[in-house]
Amino acid sequence: MNEDLQLGYLVIDATDLDAWDQFLTRTIGFMPGETSVDGTRSYRMDSWYKRFQVRPGDVDDIGVVGLVARTPEVFDSLVRRLEDAGVELAAGTKELCTERRVAQLVSFVAPGDVHVELASSPIHSKQPFISPVVAGGFLTGLQGLGHAVFMVDDLDEARRFWLDTLQFSLSDGSAEETPNGESRAVFLHSNRRHHSIALVQRPERSTYPKKMLHFMVQANEMDAVGLAYDRALDARLRIPRSLGRHPNDRMFSFYATTPGGFDYEFGWGAVEIGPDWEVGQYDHISAWGHRSLV
Ligand SMILES: [Fe+2]
Repeated sequence: MNEDLQLGYLVIDATDLDAWDQFLTRTIGFMPGETSVDGTRSYRMDSWYKRFQVRPGDVDDIGVVGLVARTPEVFDSLVRRLEDAGVELAAGTKELCTERRVAQLVSFVAPGDVHVELASSPIHSKQPFISPVVAGGFLTGLQGLGHAVFMVDDLDEARRFWLDTLQFSLSDGSAEETPNGESRAVFLHSNRRHHSIALVQRPERSTYPKKMLHFMVQANEMDAVGLAYDRALDARLRIPRSLGRHPNDRMFSFYATTPGGFDYEFGWGAVEIGPDWEVGQYDHISAWGHRSLV
């Protein structure tokens, strides 16, 4: 199993940093970290300094998707692939690398106007990670922080870019009839995590202007999902999907809405990709549950 690349960090653009601070620390369970000179706040979910960063802005959406290569050699080979594909790359300045706490990075724009940074060699904190509320912690390591799901206008173009240029692999796909028409999704992996990135094309695009649909974090213990669900209820968050199980990654999870207006998924128990993985196709995205309480 190739585990050369992971969804390493996310930078979220936010209009209300205090709301995000409460949400990420008390409702999700991250540790607060450094605050940068521009006001960007960082949060830890393991030994990395900055798995999540919340950047002051005038929109609420994904700012940057951080893909982190396992070694500098993998980083170099992916940079060459991007150059060969004619992707416009901007070299990360020393200041930006320091800000992200990585040794090197390049940035580019993926289909759907998704801003991506490819980096390597993240710096680890010597302070142990201790979540204020998730005692068993989060599943990260080579599987990365979790997954991120983006709404795109052209699923085929976006899928080609992530598969052919960034060398992700297809885990499975789904096509589901909704009252507004067909919703299609592809789920992509770059390590043992079932999907680090998913791309979705829906007919109601015009009513959902954001790029990010949701991000997912995975707890190490099942009870952590129930406890996180209680915290989401206590915080009176909007719950678009109650507790349930996905048929493809087998994730036991719920979805609630972040202060940014997009959702987060809090899960446990997903299957992992192995050498005998078979690509599936689904006509539903939940085996049970995930009912809308909105
Ligand atoms: Fe998800």
